[in-house]
Parts: sequence; C-alpha cells; structure tokens
Amino acid sequence: MKEIELLEAAKHTSPNPVSLICTRTPAGVTNLGTVSWWTYLGLEPATIGFAMMKPSYSGEMTRKNKEAVLVIPGEPLARHVMECGSTSGRDTDKAKRYGIELMSIDGTDIEIPTHSVVAIHCGLREFVDVGDHNFYICDVKRVLANDGEKALFAWKGYAKIAPAVMA
Ligand SMILES: Cc1cc2nc3c(=O)[nH]c(=O)nc-3n(C[C@H](O)[C@H](O)[C@H](O)COP(=O)(O)O)c2cc1C
Repeated sequence: MKEIELLEAAKHTSPNPVSLICTRTPAGVTNLGTVSWWTYLGLEPATIGFAMMKPSYSGEMTRKNKEAVLVIPGEPLARHVMECGSTSGRDTDKAKRYGIELMSIDGTDIEIPTHSVVAIHCGLREFVDVGDHNFYICDVKRVLANDGEKALFAWKGYAKIAPAVMA
C-alpha cells in the first residue's frame, strides 16, 4: 500500500454520501448547504452528526437556531447539489437563484427540497471543534422518507453527483 492524504482516500471510498443541510436564515428563507461528511451516530437516543467548515453559513445557522433538517437529495437535484456546495447562503438565496423547488414539512419552518429521498429533522445537542471543521451532534426529532426518489451520492471524491448502482 502507498501513503496518501486523508482527502485522497475519498476517491477510494467513492461513492460517498451526500446531503443538504437545510437551515432557516434571519431573512426567513431556507439555506441549503452541501455536506458529504455526515453520519448516523446512535439509535437510543436517535443521533446523527455532520462536519462543516467553520466559516460555513449552514454551521452558523445550526448553532444560532439549534435546528436543521438534513436531507438526502433525489436524482433531479444533482446539479443543485454542486451549486449549493459552491456558493454560500451568507450572500445568496440559493433556492431562489438556482430555482430549487421547496416544500414545507410539519414541525418546523425550515423548508426542504421537494425532490428529497430522506429528511431528518434534528436539534443541535452540541458541537465539537475539530480544527478547520466543527462537528455538529444532533438529536433526531423526526425522519421522513420518499420511496419515489433515487438517492444521490458523491463520486470520484466529490467531483460528480449521481445515483449509485448495485454491482
Ligand atoms: C459534493 C460536495 C460535498 C461537500 N461536503 C462538505 C462537507 O462535508 N462539509 C463542509 O463543510 N463542506 C462541504 N462542501 C462545501 C460546502 O457545501 C460549501 O462550503 C458551501 O459553500 C457551504 O455553504 P453555506 O455557507 O451556505 O453553508 C461540499 C461541497 C460539495 C460540492
């Protein structure tokens, strides 16, 4: 085996998960931040976690509101996953700019993309400073699923967004 950088390992573990962190902004709109580094963490209590770079607006809104909805995007959102991962909600209303259709769900004023496969509504329990990222540990409040959509994954590291096919 040869020694590589940690980020390079993502090419070898491809396809990697991809999600959109949906948060409510003070302007009253939903911001969508692309996050590959999320994970299930526990069942009792139901817990998930995700890592976001310190300057990210999604992280800031999660800390401020103590609430987010993590969604797994469906196939029609492939282009938007890249768009939401290359602009910041700090200066852009991404849903409006990229024409991403949103819908309401019960229990929160955070909207989610209509083409979502799974939506996990959660509350921030705590966040951990891990250096260039914060790791957000969240209590799951409610999970919704849509059988009619194909989940997207990040391929070739994070260069391509597409569904996975079973070998
Ligand atoms: C495929 C893909 C995966 C990404 N995964 C992460 C991630 O896990 N954590 C992170 O901090 N940023 C990740 N990013 C970058 C953020 O989405 C990007 O910094 C974005 O501008 C943050 O938006 P915000 O400021 O509105 O939160 C990813 C980008 C792409 C395209």
